[in-house]
Amino acid sequence: MAKQLRWTLNRFHSKCPADLNPSPFQPQTVDRIRDFLQSHPAYQETPYHSLKQLAAHLNIHNLIIKDESLRFGLNAFKGVGGLYAMGRVVAERAGLDFSSLSFSQLLEPEARKKLGEMTFVSATDGNHGRGVAWAASELGHKCKIFMPKGSSFIRSEAIREEGAEVQITEVNYDETVRMCAEMAKENNWILIQDTSWDGYEEIPLWIMQGYSVIASELIEQFQKEQMELPTHIILQAGVGSFAASLAAYFTNMFPDHSPRIILVEPGAADCFFRSFTTHDGHMEQVNGDLATIMAGLSCGVPNPYAYRLLKNLADASFSCADSLSALGSRVLGNPIGDDDRIISGESGSIPIGLLYYLRTTEEGEEICKALSIDEQSRVLCISTEGDTDPSFYRDIVWKGYYSNLPAYSEIIK
Ligand SMILES: Cc1ncc(COP(=O)(O)O)c(C=O)c1O
Repeated sequence: MAKQLRWTLNRFHSKCPADLNPSPFQPQTVDRIRDFLQSHPAYQETPYHSLKQLAAHLNIHNLIIKDESLRFGLNAFKGVGGLYAMGRVVAERAGLDFSSLSFSQLLEPEARKKLGEMTFVSATDGNHGRGVAWAASELGHKCKIFMPKGSSFIRSEAIREEGAEVQITEVNYDETVRMCAEMAKENNWILIQDTSWDGYEEIPLWIMQGYSVIASELIEQFQKEQMELPTHIILQAGVGSFAASLAAYFTNMFPDHSPRIILVEPGAADCFFRSFTTHDGHMEQVNGDLATIMAGLSCGVPNPYAYRLLKNLADASFSCADSLSALGSRVLGNPIGDDDRIISGESGSIPIGLLYYLRTTEEGEEICKALSIDEQSRVLCISTEGDTDPSFYRDIVWKGYYSNLPAYSEIIK
């Protein structure tokens, strides 16, 4: 196999960031958010799978995959962030107290009368927009979604089906976010964006807190089954909000023995990897088309708040070729023996593709040593999406698209 990745240990790692004290991810806070989400009729805990045969094949102690494709019927995890953030916005505007709020209260005629019809807006590569569009329609408000150039038609149709107006722009993801922020200001729309900047911090934090419900479910699932905590969690990063919220929750829960956090990004949009390799850990960005099959991770500018958290909490960072994501989809879609089958799309499968590569190649051996990944390791990955572009998923899994190519060196300038 040609070289597929670059990686770095995170020299800035400290485990006790000032941003976690007091923490917006402490268990009591997240429990309340989970209660709110649970009050939605479609809420169901997503399942986890222990892939015993694959763990044995990779010579690790166990391998747990949480399957977020079943979240709210949206085929990806993003609804937990969108629904909570939008619920908070609506509750504040309707003058409702969040401390005991349930979803149905947001639909009561009193609240509706106060609010009138609001318009929400967001930029997305697909999954976040679908979550926002769905939440807006559940709450009975309008939604406008903008997607970067090159976005999948099938993903844009899935958002339209949730009742939103959708437009594909001529610019990349980060510029589409800027466009949406300006349009929101001009038109008095409410921006529900999953990344933050100076003066726009509250809603992205709510979105991140919504994501941390995934970690809270997981810990409960581990405890119910009397499973030991993972030693390593491999988290995929776009703007980093997802990875930071899970890392922060685990660190809050287990300050003395939190699992090692390993970040993974596409080589074409590896802003965390690049930032961790700078001499002083300043935040780097990647410009241009950010072309990768991992559409959900195609973000060149980190969320600065997520970056501050991950700079302290992540142990290592990987920048990978698309072929590792395709490998991950094939591995999960074609289980060994009686392991469960998991349908994992391009942004969902990269952690497993990376793990597979690390455990089966000579290059991986050295890296595993450095990260203490060995036969005792208990590894957790989150499959954050299913086949959100089903025909492309089949091209990968059936036809072997992106089998070994392009090699990493061909996509990195
Ligand atoms: C399927 C999937 N996984 C992971 C991510 C990464 O989330 P974040 O941008 O918060 O890093 C995204 C973001 O859109 C996504 O769609």
